[in-house]
Amino acid sequence: MIANDYAALVQQDERQLHPMYHPSRTENAVMVEKGDGVWLYTTDGRKILDSMASLWNVNIGYGNRELAQVAYDQMLDIAYSSGFAGMTNPPSAQLADKLAGFFRPNMNFTNFTSGGSESTDTSIKTARFYWYQLGKARKTKIISRLTGYHGMTLAATSATGMSKFHTMFGGVLEGFIHVANPNPYHYEGELRDGESVAQAAARDLEEAILREGPETVAAFISEPIQGAGGVMIAAEGYFELAQAICKKYEVLFIADEVICGFGRTGDWFGCDAFGINPDIMQFAKGVTSGYMPLGGIQVTDEIRDVINSAPEDQSWMHGYTYSGHAAACAVGSANIDIIERDGLLANSSAMGERLLNGLNALVDEFPNIDNARGLGLMAGIDVVKSKESREGDPGTAEKISEAALEMGLRARPIGPAIAFAPPLCISADEVDIIINTMGDAITRASG
Ligand SMILES: Cc1ncc(COP(=O)(O)O)c(C=O)c1O
Repeated sequence: MIANDYAALVQQDERQLHPMYHPSRTENAVMVEKGDGVWLYTTDGRKILDSMASLWNVNIGYGNRELAQVAYDQMLDIAYSSGFAGMTNPPSAQLADKLAGFFRPNMNFTNFTSGGSESTDTSIKTARFYWYQLGKARKTKIISRLTGYHGMTLAATSATGMSKFHTMFGGVLEGFIHVANPNPYHYEGELRDGESVAQAAARDLEEAILREGPETVAAFISEPIQGAGGVMIAAEGYFELAQAICKKYEVLFIADEVICGFGRTGDWFGCDAFGINPDIMQFAKGVTSGYMPLGGIQVTDEIRDVINSAPEDQSWMHGYTYSGHAAACAVGSANIDIIERDGLLANSSAMGERLLNGLNALVDEFPNIDNARGLGLMAGIDVVKSKESREGDPGTAEKISEAALEMGLRARPIGPAIAFAPPLCISADEVDIIINTMGDAITRASG
């Protein structure tokens, strides 16, 4: 039951400096009190279909009582105790064991964090540590893609390839380099005669490695599908080329599975669809469906061997107070069991196909909607000035999303794109509500 006073809460909420803050954005805040499946219920009496699963992460859907019970039981036993070497707890041991070989057969070791940004920093430091131990201490630079998003700690922000996150915060840290994003719809890099987008973007990566000097480059980090950059699926063949380049120049490949992981793309991991076999895979979000903050990295057995064989005075001195948080890990294990038991990968694929078909129908119907794309339940469209020019129209994308919200649908505008990533438990009827509401919102906002 919702009994809170919206006006009073809005006033109290003014005390928060929210993430991604600007005061204009806190007006008419959607104050969520309750959730059930794909639905959110707000303090001011609205019912909203959340086609973004909050921040791409509530994979099993809202209001799951099983996970609440698991957290409750675990907290009664031991909610938290230190995970620093020499101490541990059953849930973190059990989850690490469950994840052994789960990402890739040659990855059997996990380090836990509390979220995606910490995972990015952990991946970067681990790559640097690896090269240091192999006597290549100059290999510290990190290459990432433009419009990639890897989080908001200082290193993660620097790996993120969008200047709107850099400019006001002192820019990008030294040693972080951004390369072209192989967006097949609108490639912004240099395309030479006869080159495909995948080849051009891969060339940009290789040129960056050569320009910096391979002896200084530790790792390349990439999302299998870019999420916060606007649901960008790389041009076909790109990852094959990028992996070969990384191998050639001894550059570790870090796959950022923070959004794609745990069923979002219809497989367990985004890497599965693109034949990516990375050295490090980082995760967060869907591992607990947002019921607890948890993230981590998986490393290859080879990297773990290097960590294990380091002299004690060069230990892998990295970790967080909440690494291996007992209640979070218990929830993570139970969440993975639910994804498996409830067939949510298959539902992600089937409902993803229905969603994409619906988005393609919107492309056919509206002159300003184009480039429907998606995999599993991660999808996007572009709002354009015209299909011929492919010039994006962020203003209208914003207006369409606002109109959709007024009609009870939460979709996320990202520049000219509108993104969709609903909970994986979504039904066919609920997918149809997304499409029908979007149709109405486009009509209202584009007129
Ligand atoms: C691909 C990716 N990596 C890292 C992060 C950062 O995760 P967090 O916000 O949990 O720190 C995000 C967040 O959206 C993400 O999408």
